[in-house]
Amino acid sequence: MKPLRIALTKGRLEKDTVGLFEEMKLDCTAVRDKGRKLILPVGNGEIEAVLAKAADVITYVEHGVCDLGVVGKDTILEHGTGFYEILDLGFGKCKFALAGPKDKDFFSGYTAKTIATKYPNVARTYFEAKGMDVRIIKIEGSVELAPLLGLSDAIVDIVETGSTLKANGLEVIDDVAPISARLIANTASLKLRKREIEQLIDQMEEAQKRLQNQKDKEKIK
Ligand code: PRP
Repeated sequence: MKPLRIALTKGRLEKDTVGLFEEMKLDCTAVRDKGRKLILPVGNGEIEAVLAKAADVITYVEHGVCDLGVVGKDTILEHGTGFYEILDLGFGKCKFALAGPKDKDFFSGYTAKTIATKYPNVARTYFEAKGMDVRIIKIEGSVELAPLLGLSDAIVDIVETGSTLKANGLEVIDDVAPISARLIANTASLKLRKREIEQLIDQMEEAQKRLQNQKDKEKIK
């Protein structure tokens, strides 16, 4: 049987997914000792992990070269939905927020505001829902710079601890959407390999619950 191929977002989500796999008693030695290799066996070879950038996880799953993927809701909201989103994995939690300079009333005045963001689709959807006409400028990273340099009135960006905003004299104006890691599946794979995928999802959910219980216990201590 061909292994189930799962694309993992490199970095933190990859590490959290490996933690989940290990809780499922799957051998992750190859992924842990990967070196520069990008396709690695998990367990007894029943799963193959593919390490990719977030947006590429979606591309590989949409095109069916990977059956499953682990990707943040941020990337899903920005890059569309030509796949099934099947499980909230509960890790990689943060949020999309509208943020701007402290003590400035963003919603006052009548001139169209300028928004800098790495996520133009997310920003557009948010302001359309508010019926606000804004100018959106795409920035590739460290978006907090844009209002500091006078390029934009505010930003739509990911906020996790809030320390980047704070260190740069910015604050959250409004929450846009919660974010966490999601398991996604190719639509054809979900039909053709239904049993295997459903079994994996069940095991993932159980492992996720056990990890959450452990975390809750640690909090009480
Ligand atoms: C993300 C995000 C913020 C920061 C938020 O950036 O865009 O800048 O993390 O985290 P915090 O609320 O815990 O401070 P990332 O480090 O991924 O890099 P980037 O800005 O280059 O996208």
